[in-house]
Amino acid sequence: MAQNILQVSNINKSFGKKSVLRDVSLSVSQGESLGFIGPNGAGKTTLIRIILGLVRSDQGSVIINGHPLRGEFKKAIGNVGSVVETPRFYSYLSAYHNLQMTCNLHPQVKKEKIAEVLELVGLTARAGDKVGTYSLGMKQRLGLARALVSNPTLIFLDEPMNGMDPQGMIETRALILKLKERGISFFITSHLLSEVEQVCDHIAIIKTGQIITRGSMEQLLTRNFETVDIYTSETATVTSVLQNVSFVHQIKTGENRVTAEIDRKSSANLNRLLVERKIPVDYLVPNNTTLEQLFIELTGGGEDSDGSDKK
Ligand SMILES: Nc1ncnc2c1ncn2[C@@H]1O[C@H](COP(=O)(O)OP(=O)(O)OP(=O)(O)O)[C@@H](O)[C@H]1O
Ligand SMILES: [Mg+2]
Repeated sequence: MAQNILQVSNINKSFGKKSVLRDVSLSVSQGESLGFIGPNGAGKTTLIRIILGLVRSDQGSVIINGHPLRGEFKKAIGNVGSVVETPRFYSYLSAYHNLQMTCNLHPQVKKEKIAEVLELVGLTARAGDKVGTYSLGMKQRLGLARALVSNPTLIFLDEPMNGMDPQGMIETRALILKLKERGISFFITSHLLSEVEQVCDHIAIIKTGQIITRGSMEQLLTRNFETVDIYTSETATVTSVLQNVSFVHQIKTGENRVTAEIDRKSSANLNRLLVERKIPVDYLVPNNTTLEQLFIELTGGGEDSDGSDKK
């Protein structure tokens, strides 16, 4: 079994009378990427701040790479890198000099590391330019470079794609995937669920401070049934043909389309049946469950900010 690089157990946190996290437990194993998603105000950033030791929890424990945060803080946090919200830099200094300042805080880090991480995030050619001239995507990549300086095995990214244009998102996504291939684990929060779906292999969903679902992406998005849209001018014929077929469970007839809920992996059978009956079909579109659909189903969408006072 893969070793847990992060183990969060039974965390509770209130700000004044406001209960923000309730009995939150989750884990990340070596090489895993966890997408930590939830509505605005659900408590995602607060949990990241607790794990990074920036905010104290009222109850519960955090163990990183076998080291408890309380008791062995330095050893625990030494395994971790983070980019929380938009990373801040000295805008009048170059990327290289900014990283040099970071290295001064980590005396064990060799200076050659700066060139290495700049190369890794694709900023070598611009390393001498002032950070004030950087695009948001470049700043985000520089944030990752800074997080990488201390050779972390786990990186926290809070809203890494926030405010980014499509090019910036493509670059950030490619970089995360590249670092994943090198065995780095990620803990990522994002409201861009299609991005989370592309870079994460595990998911935890939080709503009003409580984890409501967690598991592997595959497990959560795999259903017993799948849905197929059949585009045809002969909707009535298709509907009557599908009525008594064993692998078809539900049929919805539209104007030029029939939507059928069928057994998993039986779309080829459906196709064959329609061909055998010589029914003219324009095209068949499989309608797989997306993370976005699952999220809306489980959280009901909307914000959490009003619910966080509830007991
Ligand atoms: N320092 C603080 N003092 C008081 N309340 C706080 C503090 N920090 C966070 N909160 C409250 O805790 C709740 C959770 O906030 P948090 O920032 O963790 O949510 P989030 O899930 O990261 O939301 P978003 O998706 O908008 O980033 C919110 O109701 C917020 O107002
Ligand atoms: Mg947040």
